[in-house]
Formats: sequence, structure tokens, C-alpha cells
Amino acid sequence: MTSALPIIIDCDPGQDDAVNLLLAYASRDEFDILGVTAVAGNVPLEMTQRNARIISELAGADDIRVYAGCARPLVRELVTAHEVHGPTGIDGVEIFEPKIPLQPGHAVDFIVNTLRHAADDSVTLVPTGPLTNIAMALIKAPAIASKIREIVLMGGAMREGGNTSPSAEFNIFVDPHAAHVVMGCERPITMIGLDATHQVLCSPARIEPIKALGGASAGAVYRMLAFFNKHDTEKYDSNGAPLHDPCTMAYLINPQLFKTKKCNVEIETESPLTMGHTAVDFWRVTNRRHNINWVYAVDADGFFALLTERLARYG
Ligand code: RIB
Ligand code: CA
Repeated sequence: MTSALPIIIDCDPGQDDAVNLLLAYASRDEFDILGVTAVAGNVPLEMTQRNARIISELAGADDIRVYAGCARPLVRELVTAHEVHGPTGIDGVEIFEPKIPLQPGHAVDFIVNTLRHAADDSVTLVPTGPLTNIAMALIKAPAIASKIREIVLMGGAMREGGNTSPSAEFNIFVDPHAAHVVMGCERPITMIGLDATHQVLCSPARIEPIKALGGASAGAVYRMLAFFNKHDTEKYDSNGAPLHDPCTMAYLINPQLFKTKKCNVEIETESPLTMGHTAVDFWRVTNRRHNINWVYAVDADGFFALLTERLARYG
């Protein structure tokens, strides 16, 4: 029995972030969740930190430590996505004031202090929102980089094009400067962009089995995905919305579900037209450092089977 993998999940719930948290909380035999850090993104910070606590409470994960991080990107103004996620950010579930407290202190300081006291190459960071908190931690304490085992993030796009501008995916578009800092941290980074997540669609055939599980957590997932489906199904004329963020935890649980290629990825931080674009050198036409493990394919049915099996653990 290998020991549980220490992880920190950084997120901007968001329904798909919420499902990722529930997938992680159902897998605590494999993951030592050191903390959950919230960042401004899909909705403002006061909502993302509240939503992270609501989901933790729904899951019965009352011991999870949730921290509030950065309320805006490093340089640009915050852009949110209420049109996708609804006024609360996790429309589909009832909003309540969670009993789980918000931890004192800033999320960036939690990340820095946790890594400072960790062994080299030991902690996996799992960001599923704009990378502001992660970048700020690396800027504040560059020496923490050696403590990072891997960063498994949701963000970017290559063949799929952008979902927020013609060229850029939301997480990178919101804070391209933070993404630039993270791309340069010289630690192993697995990047799961739209090229992968657009293969993982919440079709009725895939989410009805989740509804059939019954129970509060699976029911909450089903209702969130039913809401989450509305905007993207119409936008893409697709058979369901892409379930972006849970691909990160699924990758850590079963990387065999994914196809990846080491290559260079750089971030556009100058052009107003293509700000936040991820320039993925998939065919290695430059001699730039292969800084990213780029994920380009997913076994979507295998992903939903894994998600459903883990949600069934909630009983
Ligand atoms: O582009 C999709 C990403 O942006 C997901 O992480 C979603 O939650 C939003 O944050
Ligand atoms: Ca997210």
C-alpha cells in the first residue's frame, strides 16, 4: 500500500471545480488533502471560498481546511463567468452559510508555509482556476519550487481554440501573467486543456448513472451538471458540457485514461487580441524547453466510469 499523495487543490468553484473536490474527497485513501485554496475566477473570491466550504460540508469533509487567496489577477482586472456558472457559481445546489470555517490567513501564505515544511518533490498542486495563487506563492518564496512534486492543472487550448476569446481558455485568459510565471517554474507540469476536456461531455447517458446513485453528494453533482450543461450545450451545440476540472483528479487517480506529450507551452501576455493564448509547440518546431506534459486525449467513457464509481462511495 503506497502512502497517500499529499495534494493542495486550488480552485474557483464553479460546478466543475466542485465535482473535482467531490472526486478528491471520495479518494482520500489515495490523497492526503493538505488544504483547499480558493481564487477569484468563475465568480468573485468571496463566493469561491464560500462554495468550496459548502461543497466540503455537503461531502461530509468537515476536516478540510479551506483558505481564501487572491481576489484578482496579478495585473489584469478580474473577468468572471456567471453566464456559465450562474449567480452563485454553483447553481444547482442550494446555497447555505457553511459551518466549516474559513481558515485564518491568506491562501498564498498557506501554500508557501506548507511547501516550506515539506520534503523535496513531495507535494502535488492541483489548480483548476486562474493561476494567481500559485504564481504569487512562487513569486513570494521561489525556494518552494523544489518541494513541488508536480502541478496538474486545468487550462489552455491548442486545436480547440479559446472558450473565452478566440485564442484563449478561461483560466489562462483571466490571469495570463500568473500562467507565465507557473510555466517557467521548472517543475513537472501536466496541463489539461480544452483539447482534452472537450472530449469529456456530460451527456445524459453519462450523468443519468450519477443521478441513479442517489444520496446527497451524487444528487448535488447531478443537479450541478444539469445546470452546467445549459450554457455550453447551447454554445457548442454538443451532447453535454465539457467537464473540465475533474480531469485533474482523474489524471492523478488513473493517468492511463489520458494521452500526453512533452512539449513547450508559452503564454501570450502582450497582444490585446490573443492575450492568454497558450502557444503549444506540439510538433516541436522550436528549440524551446519542453516545460509541459500536454494532455491531448482522454478515454471519456473511462473517465465517467471512474467518476461514477468514486461518487458511489458516498453511499
Ligand atoms: O475553461 C474552463 C475552466 O474555466 C474551468 O476550470 C472552469 O471551472 C473555469 O474556471
Ligand atoms: Ca475552475
